[in-house]
Order: sequence, then C-alpha cells, then structure tokens
Amino acid sequence: MKMSPKDFVARKGTKPIPMLTAYTCPVARSVEQAGVPIILVGDTVGMVEMGFDSTRDVTIEHMEYHIGAVRRGAKSTHIIGDLPYRTDRDPETALENAQRLVNAGADSVKLEGANTQVIRHLVEHNIPVVGHTGLLPQTAENFKQVGRTEEDAKRVMDEARSIEAAGAFMVVLEHIPYPLAREISHALAIPTIGIGAGQDCDGQVLVINDALGLGDYWPPFSKQYAYASKTVLQVASEFSEEVESMKFPNNIIQFTGTNGR
Ligand code: KIV
Repeated sequence: MKMSPKDFVARKGTKPIPMLTAYTCPVARSVEQAGVPIILVGDTVGMVEMGFDSTRDVTIEHMEYHIGAVRRGAKSTHIIGDLPYRTDRDPETALENAQRLVNAGADSVKLEGANTQVIRHLVEHNIPVVGHTGLLPQTAENFKQVGRTEEDAKRVMDEARSIEAAGAFMVVLEHIPYPLAREISHALAIPTIGIGAGQDCDGQVLVINDALGLGDYWPPFSKQYAYASKTVLQVASEFSEEVESMKFPNNIIQFTGTNGR
C-alpha cells in the first residue's frame, strides 16, 4: 500500500526508510517489487541519464516525462518529484510547477534550500513537500562536503529547522559531516534521509545509477551493488560479434520477462 507523508513521519525512530531514485518505467517496477516505499524522481536524471554537466539544465518538461514513466511502473509507491532549478523561484511559479509534477504522477515534490515562503505556499495548497539541505547541487559551486566549520554547521542546522517549521514532511541531508546529520536527525520531528550523511539519519537515499554501477563516475559515498555498465558492454560486444558471425538470430534464447509466471 502506498505510504503517505503522515506514515513516513510516524515511521521515524522505528525503522529506517530506504529511498531510491528512478527515472524509467522498468526500473521503477523493480524498485516497487523490492518493497522500497519511496521513489525520488530526482533532477539527477539530467546528469546520470541525459548527459548534462549540471542538474541546472533539467526542465519541468523533462521531469514530467520521467515522473510519468516512473508512475506507470510503480503505481503503489510514494513518488517524490524534484522541482528543477529556478522552477521554484517564487511561491506562485513553484505552485504552478509543483501542480504539473503532481499531474504527471508525483505524490509530493522536493525543493532545495530553506525556501520557506515557497514551502509554506505549497503546503497550504495541499502539496506535500520534501526539503533538501547540506550540499545543494542546483546552486553549489562544487560537490565538496558542506557544514564542516562551526558556522556552516549552524547554518545547515538552521536551514533544516526552518524547512521543518515551514511544513515539509521529510528532509534530505546531502554530503554533510555524520555528527551534524545525527544532531539534525535528533532535533527534527520529521524524518531525515541521508546521502553521504552517515548512518544516523532516519533513512538513506541512493541514486539508482550509482547503486547499479551504471555510468563512469560514482560519488565516494555511494555503493555499487552491481556493475551494470560492464554488463551493457559485454552484451553489446557479444551481440555485435554474433551478428557479424551470423550466429544471431539463429541462437535466440527466450526470457519471458515475467519471472517464469
Ligand atoms: O536529484 C536527486 O537525485 C537528489 C538526490 C541526490 C537526493 O536530489
């Protein structure tokens, strides 16, 4: 059954929350089958799937396209849609764009930073919001850890508190020192979801391409559970060799795609 924002808040302190990103229908279907309760259609799609150098190149139309695909694959899973760069620049623009993501299939939206006016406005219009603090890829100059000095740690803590006060039901903590993530997780009543923020968050999120080992760069705080790029290389090479040697299509092995059911 699909979990609601209230369910996620109630889960804090009971059982850690796994979250994965997904951008396509078949991957979303597998993530749902695995029982992962929440999928983020992140604007990381721009970098890990679309070949852009920055998430700033992602548009609202890109997000609608990918959210639609993910919803078709994962009908019973809570889906967060990321508001791309500048689509949340003021409360009215953010509301218009958030409604587009909801119409495409999202259950909630995520935005970067302590943009409290925007968060309040969305929540007042019944759009559940996930906040995001720490490293903010849409505006960061580099991907280094943030919150390392006392002053910056206080700024990140203050941001997390004001995101919660504005009405967000969850907050992503990206690439901050582990003790700071622990402090924030204890200070807030809403769940914190860490990425590069240590084990004391209320949940963990991984970019699916990083988890699959798909691509050619993975952040040091991610884990590769497979090496899908190698599999693609192997398959493409074998296929190419079999076409040239005229083995394929006489040697077709049929997988049903239904797990034998
Ligand atoms: O866009 C995204 O995938 C994200 C995660 C890195 C948390 O914001």
